[in-house]
Amino acid sequence: MSDNQKVDKTRRNLVVATSVVGGAASVGAAAPFFASMLPSERAKAAGAPIEVDISAIAPGELKVYEWRGKPVWVIRRTDAMLEAIRKSDPKLSDPKSEVLQQPAYAQNEFRSIKPHVMVVVGVCTHLGCSPQEKRIDDKAEMGADWLGGFYCPCHGSKFDFAGRVYKGSPAPTNLVVPPYKYLSDNTLVVGEDKKGA
Ligand code: FES
Repeated sequence: MSDNQKVDKTRRNLVVATSVVGGAASVGAAAPFFASMLPSERAKAAGAPIEVDISAIAPGELKVYEWRGKPVWVIRRTDAMLEAIRKSDPKLSDPKSEVLQQPAYAQNEFRSIKPHVMVVVGVCTHLGCSPQEKRIDDKAEMGADWLGGFYCPCHGSKFDFAGRVYKGSPAPTNLVVPPYKYLSDNTLVVGEDKKGA
């Protein structure tokens, strides 16, 4: 089962964005267009940056996009989520994100360009499963001191809402933040940043 299929099973809204800057589209709209490309064009598009319209992502909501065959989560974090991130530091292996799992502009308290918008590759850094979102109020399942974040059911890794891994998890590092940039307040490009990465 692919990462995306796993993600799809988790009640999240799976949105597959097509190739480059030019717009996100649903799977149905994207597939015939993609299939009509030559193999070399498909290969290029599969590795290309994607444009993501984040205007419809509600506070607290997570949407999943596909970039280079991987699920990329975009989360509009609430103030409560940001506060939970601040409180998570003592529980984490790498609270300051010293391992290079993010671009330099995301090596900060919230691992993002803007605190309320998180962009992260939703693939566990242990063996590649896709973690599940666990809300702050999922304490019955996650424990009384759970502050919200992500749980990887494969071997039990936990991450906070900035994708930082909990101490004692089998995952060795924080989740990967891909290169990205803003074209406007509500439009992101994932897979490319201002240096043209
Ligand atoms: S793959 Fe996530 S804990 Fe092993």
